Amino acid sequence: MKPDDAVAPRLNVDLYDPGNLARPWDMLRSIREAGPLVWNEQGFWMTGHDRVCRQVLNSPDQFGQEGLIASLFGEEAFISIDERAMHNALRNVWVAAFGSRGVERLVPFVRDAIVDLADGVVEELSGGGQVDIMARLCRPLPAVVIARMMGVAPDMVPVVIAWSDAMADATSGGFPIDYANDPAWLASEAAKRDLGDYIRDQIRYRRGNPGEDLVSMMVGSDIARTLSDEALMVNIRQLLFAGNETTAKWLGHIVVTLAEDADLRGELRQTADLIPDAVEEVLRWQGVTQVLPRGVMKDGAQVAGVALPQGAQIILLIGAAGRDPARWDAPDRFDLHRAKKPHLAFVFGLHSCLGATLARMEAREFTDALLRRVPDFRVARPVTFGNFSLRGPASIVIERA
Ligand code: HEM
Repeated sequence: MKPDDAVAPRLNVDLYDPGNLARPWDMLRSIREAGPLVWNEQGFWMTGHDRVCRQVLNSPDQFGQEGLIASLFGEEAFISIDERAMHNALRNVWVAAFGSRGVERLVPFVRDAIVDLADGVVEELSGGGQVDIMARLCRPLPAVVIARMMGVAPDMVPVVIAWSDAMADATSGGFPIDYANDPAWLASEAAKRDLGDYIRDQIRYRRGNPGEDLVSMMVGSDIARTLSDEALMVNIRQLLFAGNETTAKWLGHIVVTLAEDADLRGELRQTADLIPDAVEEVLRWQGVTQVLPRGVMKDGAQVAGVALPQGAQIILLIGAAGRDPARWDAPDRFDLHRAKKPHLAFVFGLHSCLGATLARMEAREFTDALLRRVPDFRVARPVTFGNFSLRGPASIVIERA
């Protein structure tokens, strides 16, 4: 598996070094500058070039979900399935619910959920207090929303959050994973089992009591008749996880960006129409999914002139691509008014993010409400960050500025 020296540049980089979590940009720049495709001595290929990431995403027949994605989500979850007909049959069960009409119908619910969560926060801040806005607002909001969509009882939300957080930390012990011994991986497996048991109960319940929720939709779909309960479970579990973990981190990045930039807060308060551009730029600039793994499906797949063997793992460094100077002018600068062009945060192609429209709506509503209710605020203590694969603040203590 190891390439010979002449084939490609090599580096020995620990992507998961906790010392880089708050500011991974120098590390990512050094990988990008080493070349379009770099062998990491830790045992995998990586690229931080936007163009190369796009090439790989454009070729799902050569670069598939085998490897980390399949082991994280289960081989029968559609995020892991490369065969188009089966992938699309499963994804299509939920496509309308995540389209713009389905998502806009949820706006009143999301606004109410923000009010419920934000009232106490606003009161404490107004009284001169400090609040961990990650714990109180950013983390629970997307979980409340996806729970509602999936018919999960509100009192289960904290439990779902704990399971999801453990799943998100699966790779925090480093990559490639020592599946037998890595404590972070084993903790995530335990959380997946518990979440799986809960979802199996939900599947049984919804068979007898169908509703309008996403679990009922999957259970009652035509494709469900061809599937085992295990396959149904992994598909539902991937959605519950993806629907809350990533968006929470995006909201956290938005808070930190706004807290550090009074001019930006002022401009967005004046012109709320700019909020969608602002949250999009936060996603390019800070990213959430930093590590997107792909497995080489057959010998000889070419990337940047290197022929890769079947089974090789290649990591698309999406956050590094978001700061690739070959695509973005002054990429390290947050620029609300930069020329619009697509970033890779939601990727594209076969496995493009199903929840992108929902996440964008939540980010827009959250930012609008925050700026109206807490016009000026600052970070009161150093922000802490969780694991690099899905990078985002773990805690953000704020106070009124
Ligand atoms: C900031 C928020 C989000 C980010 C950055 C994000 C990012 C991503 C990325 C990078 C992928 C591609 C994975 C791959 O190709 O291996 C993906 C796929 C997916 N996402 Fe998201 N996501 C977000 C929010 C959501 C939400 C809110 C949901 C659902 C409620 C969701 C559901 C999914 C699903 C089901 C897939 C698999 C799609 C497929 O394989 O066809 N995501 N997401």
